[in-house]
Amino acid sequence: MSRPADPLAAPSQAAPAARLEAPKDALARPLNSLRVSLIDTCNLRCNYCMPGEDYVWLPWDDILDVDETGRLVEAFTGLGVDKVRLTGGEPLMRREVEQVVERLATIPGIRDLSLTTNGLLLARHAEALARAGLHRATVSLDTLRADRFRQLTRRDGLHHVLDGIEAASCAGLGRLKINTVVIRGFNDDELVGLIEFGKQAGAEVRFIEYMDVGGATQWSIDRVVARRQMLAALEEHFGPIRELSENGSAPANHYCLPDGTVFGIIASTTEPFCRTCDRSRLTADGVWFLCLYAAEGLDLRTPLRDGASTGELRELIAGTWIGRTDRGAEERARLNSLRGPLYQIEDLRKDPHREMHTRGG
Ligand code: GTP
Ligand code: 5AD
Ligand code: SF4
Repeated sequence: MSRPADPLAAPSQAAPAARLEAPKDALARPLNSLRVSLIDTCNLRCNYCMPGEDYVWLPWDDILDVDETGRLVEAFTGLGVDKVRLTGGEPLMRREVEQVVERLATIPGIRDLSLTTNGLLLARHAEALARAGLHRATVSLDTLRADRFRQLTRRDGLHHVLDGIEAASCAGLGRLKINTVVIRGFNDDELVGLIEFGKQAGAEVRFIEYMDVGGATQWSIDRVVARRQMLAALEEHFGPIRELSENGSAPANHYCLPDGTVFGIIASTTEPFCRTCDRSRLTADGVWFLCLYAAEGLDLRTPLRDGASTGELRELIAGTWIGRTDRGAEERARLNSLRGPLYQIEDLRKDPHREMHTRGG
């Protein structure tokens, strides 16, 4: 396969503008979705993400301000990004979260503006977020039992998360989703309960296979519940489950219960979906990662602060995207029985950008 042309090269007669507007990577994947982390800190300590005692945080001066975030997102939307998701750490711990939403909501071309939160502070923010222009929210909810919540997150607060889910529906943050990381021996007996909860809350539940990413230093393959195992457990309770056909690039596959309830499964560990991945991630300090598993990212903060124009930023981004070959989750899956945690604590301390809570879930 021939490589796409370099948009940084001198313009040719053959529609260079079109190439810059919608770059495809080396595997012909477009750049449609951007996940923007607003802050690397979090008010929970979920075992699958932050099992450690203490962390190295990003320097405060490096965190992009509201306008810098807006400028970078504008550079991306000009290249075809139409889906923006705010992440963390916990994005609601960022004091200016509503201002960021307000700033991004004015950018033409963003068709879908969403936020992933652990829900602890959601009841307090839901209305203001909706007013600021947020389209929808996804809340992490791994258990419905307060004792397990405490065990998993090392904090109390399940009732705040449940209040947050209710407040989000009342505030009109439509198409609410619930993300559940399924861990064998911890919450794999709650799949039915969580589906029932989702029905009552009017939210789509998505079960996520436990991943061997960044901070998941306690990951092991025997704690992963594979998609087919989740489906078998749910079929035993609910009866035949139908898979819905889809051809998009979203991580979740969707299924329908006999009563019509739709839920999703994100099988990123056992059946990765890198082939259609159109996502990339921006950390709160402006480093751009082309894959959840990528070792290195591209620093966009320095050129931005050095005065690069939006056009120059776009050239830099497009020029990097066209060389993208990342298939991180597929490479991990090929390790089979040799697979273990991606990093140990010492590796993570050397560079906090390796943490899932820094690059956004
Ligand atoms: P929707 O737009 O609502 O479909 O969102 P989404 O499915 O992209 O969003 P969400 O942020 O809720 O992602 C759910 C989870 O899927 C994340 O927390 C990750 O665990 C996993 N995930 C998302 N993107 C990727 C990716 O690029 N690679 C891998 N391996 N996992 C991903
Ligand atoms: N495995 C799967 N998902 C994870 N997340 C964080 N760490 C992991 C992991 N090890 C995702 C979860 C969480 C979101 C913020 O990030 O979906 O809800
Ligand atoms: Fe848990 Fe999300 Fe916080 Fe990580 S960033 S500890 S997954 S709530």
